[in-house]
Order: sequence, then structure tokens, then C-alpha cells
Amino acid sequence: MNTQRLIDTARELVADDKGLLAMDESNPTCNERFAQFGISQTEEARRAYRQWIVTTPGLADSISGAILYDETLRQHKDDGTPFAKALLDVGIIPGIKVDLGAKDLATHAGEKITEGLDGLRGRLAEYGDMGARFAKWRAVIAIGEGFPSRSCLEANAHALARYAALCQEAGLVPIVEPEVLMTGDHPLERCLKVTEETLRNVFIQLNCQRVMLEGMLLKPNMVVPGLTCLEQKTADDVADTTVKCLLRNVPAAVPGVAFLSGGQSGELASERLNAMNVRFRGRLPWALTFSFARAIQQPALEIWRGQEANVSLAQHALSYRAKCNRMARRGEYPAAMQGNSTESASRSDSSSNLVTIK
Ligand code: 13P
Repeated sequence: MNTQRLIDTARELVADDKGLLAMDESNPTCNERFAQFGISQTEEARRAYRQWIVTTPGLADSISGAILYDETLRQHKDDGTPFAKALLDVGIIPGIKVDLGAKDLATHAGEKITEGLDGLRGRLAEYGDMGARFAKWRAVIAIGEGFPSRSCLEANAHALARYAALCQEAGLVPIVEPEVLMTGDHPLERCLKVTEETLRNVFIQLNCQRVMLEGMLLKPNMVVPGLTCLEQKTADDVADTTVKCLLRNVPAAVPGVAFLSGGQSGELASERLNAMNVRFRGRLPWALTFSFARAIQQPALEIWRGQEANVSLAQHALSYRAKCNRMARRGEYPAAMQGNSTESASRSDSSSNLVTIK
């Protein structure tokens, strides 16, 4: 195992106040998002979409790494350049989602287990040859009446740790993503408790499988009230609770925490990340950054709608949200972009009120 290379890649991914762009939607998920805007659900449409994303001017100013899906890693630009090379050429590290999705956990109604360990060693070797330098595996933890169960937390933590160990063996930095879902009407405190239990289980298993903490990144949810909880919280409340949860459960050896957005609007995700960095930057052992999919892509997808004529505007919107998040990492997300911070988590972005960000 090339320990130093793993450490260097993990650090590079969280350096310079940048973050990650998750563009690793599986084909069914990508098709679902396309369907909302009447975009054709074909391999060529997905390639066209990913092509304009990776060629967005200035994307590398805010984005250190991009997570691709298997199909995307095998695709090329019109001129034949593989997407992984196109990213590397502009200074963005290519990564790959390697889990095969969350499936029903047997005998546990409402709970999921992520699959994909069988054959993973071989797939990682192939992905490494194709240029991927890091990988991602997402575990899904739902909150509901009587769950998450201990067995769900342990099974998912075990799978995450087995995946992470295999990644490091193959020279790829594992991004360990245990996502506690926002679905539900539970209060902030319940999300805190479940996220704490989740992270505790994950780090027990990571240690058990001898994963080198310096050569991995954590991709957790922010600690937020359930989407339909009547008592939504301010960005400062979310920031304080999330950081408390991380300080209690994430070892200082981990170089970075890169949040998923989980269905929060782009604005709200930036606002909450900003609040964490305003209040704690320079006082935490790890970098606090972003690894958003929807919170960066959604406004741009809405503009694109599968039309070549809209590409330039869509690229502008994508680059804009990426820049907003880089500002949020510095705790400098413009106040002008921040609304009423207790608004619904699904508040939509307005691409018409873009303010100037340097
Ligand atoms: P969202 O930011 O849309 O939650 O996606 C992040 C991700 O990578 C999901 O696995």
C-alpha cells in the first residue's frame, strides 16, 4: 500500500478551500432527474450532460475532485478525450462511485444495506487503471418508528469499512459516506443521536479493518431536523449541532469532512456550510468542505433542459454554485445570498439573483 500517495491525495482533495462535485448519479437516478425536465433518458443525453459539466470554464477554481459513475468514467468528450483525462487536464482529480446501490435489508422493513463488495477488488484495479484516484461508497440510514436498528448500523458500517480497506489496498482514497436521511418529521436532536450512533459504528469498523484514517475522507450528512419537522432550525443551530456531533465522533487524523447535500437547496447547503466555517474555522482538526451533487447541479440542470443552446448559461449556474461553496468553506458566503435561514430545506434556488463572486 502506497501510504504517502493516499495521504497526499486525501489532502489534495480538501486543499485550497475547494470541495468535491458529486456527478455520480446512477443511470436510474440520472434518468429520474432528466425526466423532471423532459430530457431524453439515453446514454448519449447523459454523456452530453457530463460533457458540459466537465468542460465548464473555471470549474477547477472551486472543485478539487469529481466523483463519476461507472458509465461516465468510460465515456469521452466529442473529441475522444476520456472524461477522466479532461478533468485531470484542468486540475480536477477524478473519482468513482463503486457501491452498487442500497437494497432492502432482509428482515428489517424500511431499512437498507448497500451492496457491491463482491468483485470489488477487481473493479477497483480497473478503475485505477482508468485514472480514478479516489472512490465513494454510500450507506443509507433512515430514521423512523423503531429504526435505525443496531443491525442496520453495524451491517452498513462493516460494509463501508471493508470497502475502505479494499480501496486503500488498491491505492484509491476511500470517501466513506454514511448518509442519515432527512426524510421524516423528527427533531434536530433525533438526527444528532442517530448520526452520532452511525459515526461511532463507522469508526469502530474502520479501525477494525485497519483503514488508515489519514488516507480517507468522511462524507456525512449535516445534522438537521427532518424535512417535515415543524420546528426548522437556523443555520447557526445546524452548524453548532453538526460540529458537536463531528467533534465527538470523528478522529482528528481524518484530513477532511466533505458534506453531502442530501436534498437541501443549493442556497441552504451553502448557508449552513458557511455558518460552520464562520463559527469554527481554524479551531477544528479537519477541513469542513462539500461534496454536493444536487446542491451544485440542480439549478444548472433546470436551465439546461437538454438543449444545446442553454449550455453556456447552465455552465454559468454550475460554476456559480461551486464558487458559492468555496466561499462557504472560507466562511465568506455572501450575506446577499442568504435568506431566512429557517426556511424549508427544500427551498429552491433562483438562478436570476446571482451576485458577483470573485
Ligand atoms: P447530494 O449532495 O445530492 O446528496 O449527493 C451527494 C452524493 O454523492 C450522494 O451519494
